[in-house]
Amino acid sequence: SPSEPKNSSNTQEQLSEKIKDLELSLPKELWFGFPMQLYQGYWCLSVLLEGIIAFQTHFQPHDTDIILASLPKTGTTWLKSLLFALLNRNKLSHLSELPFNTKNPHELVLHLEIEVFKNSLTNPPDLTQLPSPRLFATHMPYHSLPDSIKTSKCRIVYVCRNPFDTFVSLWHFYLQFEVSKGTSPDKEMMEGYVNKYCAGVSPFGPYEDHVLGYWKESKENPKHVLFIEYEGLKKEPKDHLKKLAEFVGCPFSEEEEKENVIDKIIELCSLKSMKEMEVNKNGKFYVWVENKALFRKGEVGDWSNHLTSSMAKQFDQILEKLKEAGFSF
Ligand code: A3P
Repeated sequence: SPSEPKNSSNTQEQLSEKIKDLELSLPKELWFGFPMQLYQGYWCLSVLLEGIIAFQTHFQPHDTDIILASLPKTGTTWLKSLLFALLNRNKLSHLSELPFNTKNPHELVLHLEIEVFKNSLTNPPDLTQLPSPRLFATHMPYHSLPDSIKTSKCRIVYVCRNPFDTFVSLWHFYLQFEVSKGTSPDKEMMEGYVNKYCAGVSPFGPYEDHVLGYWKESKENPKHVLFIEYEGLKKEPKDHLKKLAEFVGCPFSEEEEKENVIDKIIELCSLKSMKEMEVNKNGKFYVWVENKALFRKGEVGDWSNHLTSSMAKQFDQILEKLKEAGFSF
């Protein structure tokens, strides 16, 4: 099991074998053709299982670490750019020196289970030399994070988005792979995915477990987890950015406020500005997707252009579970 101490005599091959056995024993589902496994109560894309286990086994948090946590399609790219800008703004003489034109935010802030611990079960990367504060990201639910993170003083920023827009964004994102295989989406196909999603079957889902895990921790331990809503960030970006800067330990100075640095960061990291960056027009960070696919509309309520009322009704089961726990949008 991943919680067992590492046996140094295990070779990468032996461990990979163990993971294959584990994979075989877990319930399976497909998400737009991508295999997923139900691991520790959530649906993880099979290609990520090894990285997840390596992360759980080897990661040693520092108290100064900042970890962005999110479900896919809830504003991860946006928050990566904002956090990167916040933490690096004072190392530069001008904000325009931030490398957003040449590097996509995902390249600047790596996901622990996707990139940092990829293929590293027996040879974990040495992260001790990274300058502090180290900034990482994860899509894993709170309960599945290594205990070392839960007991450390590191800070976790969680971004959450309403389930309707998150689903619609996810739908568009994954549809590109189906379309490239020649599938033409129809209402029936969308209904099928709405059903799956609302039943909890989606990458890193169930949605409500993910949201509630971080939300509860943010209530119990507000110094450990800052809970941000995508919609709130859209509506009041300035207040949110100030709060975010304070939480990660680099508040805006009076001088910065006078010089409108907050507005400048908001503008620089806006969807419009990010879409125009050369690397996002023509670049590719993830092998399987072009950077431009990470930026679509970025609107609150776009779901109403895509979901029928009967599809939207399916989401009641998610909203109910959130409400029962005391959370609502
Ligand atoms: P839509 O598909 O609704 O447009 P993630 O980064 O977690 O994958 O989330 C992707 C969603 O965030 C997409 O939503 C995308 O357009 C939106 N997004 C990306 N960059 C953004 C930004 N700078 N500001 C606001 N929304 C952004």
